[in-house]
Amino acid sequence: MKAYYVEAYDNNDLSKMIYGDLPTPEIADDQVLVKVAAGSFNPCERQVGAGEFEHAFATPIPFVFGVDCAGIVEKVGANVDNVKVGDRVIAYLGFAMGGGSGEYVATKGDWVAPAPKSMSLTDCGCIPLASLTAWEALFTHGKLEEGQIVVVNGASGGVGNSIVQLAKWKGATVIGIDHGSVKDNVMSIGADYFVDYTCQKLGDVYDKEVDLIINFSNAPESQIEEQMAQLKKGGTVVNGNAAMAQKMLRKIGGNQERGVTMSDSDSANVNYVIFSVDYDTPSLTKISKVIDEGGLKPLITDRIAVKDLKKAHETYLQGKNNGKILVIVDDSLK
Ligand SMILES: NC(=O)c1ccc[n+]([C@@H]2O[C@H](COP(=O)([O-])OP(=O)(O)OC[C@H]3O[C@@H](n4cnc5c(N)ncnc54)[C@H](OP(=O)(O)O)[C@@H]3O)[C@@H](O)[C@H]2O)c1
Repeated sequence: MKAYYVEAYDNNDLSKMIYGDLPTPEIADDQVLVKVAAGSFNPCERQVGAGEFEHAFATPIPFVFGVDCAGIVEKVGANVDNVKVGDRVIAYLGFAMGGGSGEYVATKGDWVAPAPKSMSLTDCGCIPLASLTAWEALFTHGKLEEGQIVVVNGASGGVGNSIVQLAKWKGATVIGIDHGSVKDNVMSIGADYFVDYTCQKLGDVYDKEVDLIINFSNAPESQIEEQMAQLKKGGTVVNGNAAMAQKMLRKIGGNQERGVTMSDSDSANVNYVIFSVDYDTPSLTKISKVIDEGGLKPLITDRIAVKDLKKAHETYLQGKNNGKILVIVDDSLK
């Protein structure tokens, strides 16, 4: 099969990225083989390819890029009973595993969910990582309830865009924070207030208490700290920037453990979550339903053929990445 991969960690030397032939993956009894229609570019695949997580987790080598995908089930392992050959599916494949930028990917049967019926299978490739990250940030960790007030740093980004929409779907008041040039976009997807991070602070636009602060941006620590002054007692911060989150957590004195509520110490009065997206097929299945019911329109800012994947990696390394790039592998799949 054709795939985009590296044969060894490339330390961000993109000349080592290869578009070439690899054997089609074999499946284990608990896996399915998915024929990939599309996936999306996500910054973490560049970091994994570079070897930044070499000491944190094991990655298959060759490492095929692409941490999510949409496609058709081609083969089903003996112990898989939730899907059948021919099903349209979406899957979060995992930071460490990758595989979405190949014609075929093997993944656990438990990790695939039905693709929304209201979108083309190709466009569904933009859903899994961004939407699942948003869902887990808001509901699994943020425990957002109807009527609550949520601050979204990075509101127009690949993840932030889904966060704004899903928070509105839940019935929350949303304060979107991003660059002033994207204000109209952020308001059009449902934000109630907008803060331009280049010249405003949260308090300039909204000066009451908030229930939840979410960060999926390169905001500096000081920005989140200032916002925390408006957080209700016992409120929650979900921070997708792990390095910054760990630094801040040390300051407020919480225990470190990935992906769970970190600190509700008396001094801090805050639940602080260092966020890392995790497999969650029931939530991915709900996301498909919400999309079909019109509650979420996943963002696609650019579409590229998989053979051009390197361009997305270059753009990311130049710091120009913004939004969701769909990586098309086979758009004949319906
Ligand atoms: N922990 C996890 O599991 C997980 C999962 C997915 C993503 N992430 C991380 O989350 C981050 C966002 O990912 P993404 O794909 O959504 O990125 P993205 O599409 O580049 O979006 C980030 C957005 O944040 C904006 N921004 C920059 N500085 C800001 C500030 N000070 N305040 C508010 N907004 C600001 C950016 O605007 P400009 O264009 O002006 O810079 C951009 O619109 C990345 O660091 C990614 O690695 C983590």
